[in-house]
Amino acid sequence: MNFKAKMFNRKASDPKSKPDQILETLALQAGQNIADIGAGGGYFPLRFAEAVGEKGRVFAVDTNPEFLEFIRDSAKEKGLDNVETVLVTEDSLTLPEKSLDLVFMRNVTHHIPNRVEYFGKLKALLKPEGRIAIIEYRRGGRFSFRRMFGHYVPREIIIEEMSKAGYRLEEDLDFLSEQSFTIFSLKV
Ligand SMILES: C[S@@+](CC[C@H](N)C(=O)[O-])C[C@H]1O[C@@H](n2cnc3c(N)ncnc32)[C@H](O)[C@@H]1O
Repeated sequence: MNFKAKMFNRKASDPKSKPDQILETLALQAGQNIADIGAGGGYFPLRFAEAVGEKGRVFAVDTNPEFLEFIRDSAKEKGLDNVETVLVTEDSLTLPEKSLDLVFMRNVTHHIPNRVEYFGKLKALLKPEGRIAIIEYRRGGRFSFRRMFGHYVPREIIIEEMSKAGYRLEEDLDFLSEQSFTIFSLKV
């Protein structure tokens, strides 16, 4: 399974995926708490851990225990002790209430069943000023892998579902070539 975790990381860190611009957009602050849902090989959670520093905390959340083990080992190698791994099932996620400044989800929403309900449950985990950042594949060309296998959720659907779940669209970014990138806050 390591090869898959490494493959996710190669793709995530590729300049074409614009990881630095993604980090810049998120404008993380020292001491923040972040959950990366669908953490994969851990490329982003480890970057987040560096950005939030030792007073911050990063929860790397995944359904796959082998990816989480890979992330734990990588964090140890890098001397990062502010990364916690969280094993979840497809539709449940338990983290302390009102604890998170940011939930980050990259290329994972297409895996989640009953998204409105799922997004709705995440509200309890966010601090009042907390945000959810979603990067998700656009539909792609007729013969693209993501279109043929349904590995995408159109941007409009994400915005509609997030609105139904109780969030307001804050930023709608279009600098990624294959994905939409939207950031939401809680509706007040
Ligand atoms: C395509 S990978 C993306 C990995 C990483 N976010 C990235 O951008 O490199 C999707 C990840 O989501 C995880 N996953 C799938 N369904 C999930 C769920 N319901 N909750 C949490 N993680 C999930 C998979 O195990 C996998 O690690």
